Amino acid sequence: MMRIGLIGGSGLEGLFGGVGYKTVSTPYGDIKYLYKVYDDVGVIFIPRHGPRHEYPPHRVNYRGNIYALAKLGVDRVIATSAVGSIDESLHPGSIVLVDQFIDYTKRSITFYDDYVVHVDVTNPYCRELSRTLYNVGKKLGLNIRWGAVYICTEGPRFETPAEINMFRLLGANVVGMTNVPEVVLAREAGLHYSLVSIITNYAAGMQERVSQEEVLEIMERTSESLKRLIHESIEALPRDEWSDECIRFRDVFRKYVLGVV
Ligand code: HPA
Repeated sequence: MMRIGLIGGSGLEGLFGGVGYKTVSTPYGDIKYLYKVYDDVGVIFIPRHGPRHEYPPHRVNYRGNIYALAKLGVDRVIATSAVGSIDESLHPGSIVLVDQFIDYTKRSITFYDDYVVHVDVTNPYCRELSRTLYNVGKKLGLNIRWGAVYICTEGPRFETPAEINMFRLLGANVVGMTNVPEVVLAREAGLHYSLVSIITNYAAGMQERVSQEEVLEIMERTSESLKRLIHESIEALPRDEWSDECIRFRDVFRKYVLGVV
């Protein structure tokens, strides 16, 4: 049976019901997850910030989450996250499938501390997975765009307007605090990974203030559309194996990190 991983961001801990957590152990600590079968697909849901939203962005167990998905036999990962818009044409409530990132964090988190492995991130997000999500989103009539640059900040604070102006000059369209290193670790693990980001606010300086309450309120309001998008995308996903660039490092990961021969 095909297995898909879902990583739920802030405000989406309940996306999957929220009860009956199981635990999987990893070298980075135990990870809690929910397991359900949708049609003919096994779905593993991990709340990025922990089941009670207890880990702030700079303390998320990024390696544990991705390792857990790989260990549980997942091959494709759909992640969700809240982002701020730096781009006047991207409005709160809309959905963006990002295709590039800029790393503005101070994190150096990798599976390859003890081996010299440089992964290729020319296309960091899986285009097969994003294509399905985009087509399903359009069919459902959602306000969805495919193609945006995500800049990742260290957090947990929001940004200054001066930083946002700089990020716009650098070519970023949306800002968030978690996608790096998550997307990079997924690539290191040879997983197909796509990010569905929900715009919850205009970034600092583009509206009067930015607040956590507003972020959670918009996430709550979009969660029904998001559930439909994810459920129908899982149904629509081609069932054959994809041999694109995403999986290039899968064997290296299995050998050096998972220890499977
Ligand atoms: N900045 C950073 N992260 C965010 C924002 C923001 O404005 N909105 C939601 N996540």
